[in-house]
Amino acid sequence: MRISFNVPTLLGRELEYINDALEQKVISGNGKFTALCQEFLSRLMSGSPTLLTTSCSSALEMSTILASIESGDEVILPSFTFPSTANAIVLRGGTPVFVDISPDTLNIDEQLIEAAITPRTKAIIVVHYGGVACEMDQISAIARRHGLLVIEDAAHALHACYGQHPLGSLGDVAAFSFHESKNIISGEGGALIINNAELMSRAEIIWEHGTNRLEFNRGKVDFYNWVDLGSSFPPSEITAAFLYAQLEHSRDATDRRLALWHNYARELQPLENAEKLHLPHPPDHCRHNGHIFYLLAPSSGKRTEWLNRLDQRDVNAVSHYVPLHSAPAGRRFGRTAGSLPVTEDIAGRIVRLPLHLGLSEDDQSRVVDAVRHVAKG
Ligand SMILES: Cc1ncc(COP(=O)(O)O)c(C=O)c1O
Repeated sequence: MRISFNVPTLLGRELEYINDALEQKVISGNGKFTALCQEFLSRLMSGSPTLLTTSCSSALEMSTILASIESGDEVILPSFTFPSTANAIVLRGGTPVFVDISPDTLNIDEQLIEAAITPRTKAIIVVHYGGVACEMDQISAIARRHGLLVIEDAAHALHACYGQHPLGSLGDVAAFSFHESKNIISGEGGALIINNAELMSRAEIIWEHGTNRLEFNRGKVDFYNWVDLGSSFPPSEITAAFLYAQLEHSRDATDRRLALWHNYARELQPLENAEKLHLPHPPDHCRHNGHIFYLLAPSSGKRTEWLNRLDQRDVNAVSHYVPLHSAPAGRRFGRTAGSLPVTEDIAGRIVRLPLHLGLSEDDQSRVVDAVRHVAKG
């Protein structure tokens, strides 16, 4: 049987909670399950307020509204990321400025950020690739020196840490994804964490269609009114009910993924020792969450060949991001800060292996055998 790259898995009471939401006869946003998810995530994020969103993309779009990105403003980000990171900038009229990544983490190379800053730079968006933390101490220091906001694209990063600090608690704001491809899922879904208290009152307004409806709900105003930019960012209670059931088991699920990740690392290490491929070695102070297990083929030609040969052995391994700076919209809307040789090299060689909670020991052994076979051949 074919081994899928990803299979969405129920973790517990998803269907029961959806039923519960239906029985309450309120299934639009901001109900009981939204509050439960927001409280759960806020507890994880050292108490920072959380707003549930329809996706990580929409949480990123809220971030760039909050950062007041306007026409001509520049935002620094890696090119090795999903288009949503850059769309959030371009939708506000800003210019994405792409910086190269570091080969050990595939995250933005913090050493290159300062040279990319101009008088138009307003913010830095960091992406914690595969739940491995960016070098947040250095990045926060650069942002403080230059008066920039830091937005964490924490799409991959639930339950991952930088030292003792949970990812998502370190930038001015952070965006999570609960898309079905992530560790914890609700089909589509996301969340915005607001760590900078000065941004909270405006974040609530943006979330609620640009209105002060939450103030009205609290009895603080007599009617609610259109007061700022905004959109329909809250997910329905059906989505939130599903998500809450996942969050309840999110720590266990992360530990199970980590066990699979470490199995791959152990079993494939001899191939790296024999210089057949390269494996990830995240720094010790970046406690990741087993979101992605990747290897690097020796060349992009070999990567294409390996993906085909893995596919012939019924293993659905996949590549990852096409660098944004070389994509048609990236060339049209953005610019690079210098050349991006690491991004271009890694994007051509990366192979992600199947990793999901339904992957049995046998399946994983089959994947390992298939990788041994293609890497030696
Ligand atoms: C780094 C990154 N940011 C943002 C997104 C968008 O997430 P969503 O599908 O929840 O909008 C993704 C999607 O995979 C991603 O990989």
